[in-house]
Amino acid sequence: MKTFVLLCLVALAAADQSARIVNYQYGIEEDGAYEAQYQTTNGISAKEDGISYPGNVPEAGNYVRSGSYSYEWEGVTYTVNWTADENGFHPVGDHLPDFSHTREHIGSIDDHQ
Ligand SMILES: *[C@@H]1O[C@H](CO)[C@@H](O)[C@H](O)[C@H]1NC(C)=O
Repeated sequence: MKTFVLLCLVALAAADQSARIVNYQYGIEEDGAYEAQYQTTNGISAKEDGISYPGNVPEAGNYVRSGSYSYEWEGVTYTVNWTADENGFHPVGDHLPDFSHTREHIGSIDDHQ
């Protein structure tokens, strides 16, 4: 999912080839928790953090990640807050449809087994 977010941002950045990344910060702790953020000179900013924990597959563990990114398009700033965990990627934004009830409609994977 990181790839998806990154590709969206790269696509936006590609529209302005003179844009530069500024204020990039990244830190990771011994337990795997991390925080990262950056801005670009053409109005994109993004930040995220994550914690590592033993999840459904103990030997693999899992990450719970959350973050937000925003960008300007035709004078409007769009912001997406998101979380990502073993249940998927959950974006929230004023310009996005409300996905919060999707699971009620399609059921969880467990319901179909
Ligand atoms: C995103 O998170 C920020 C900070 O918590 C909050 O102020 C803002 O209202 C949130 N935006 C949306 C679309 O949920």
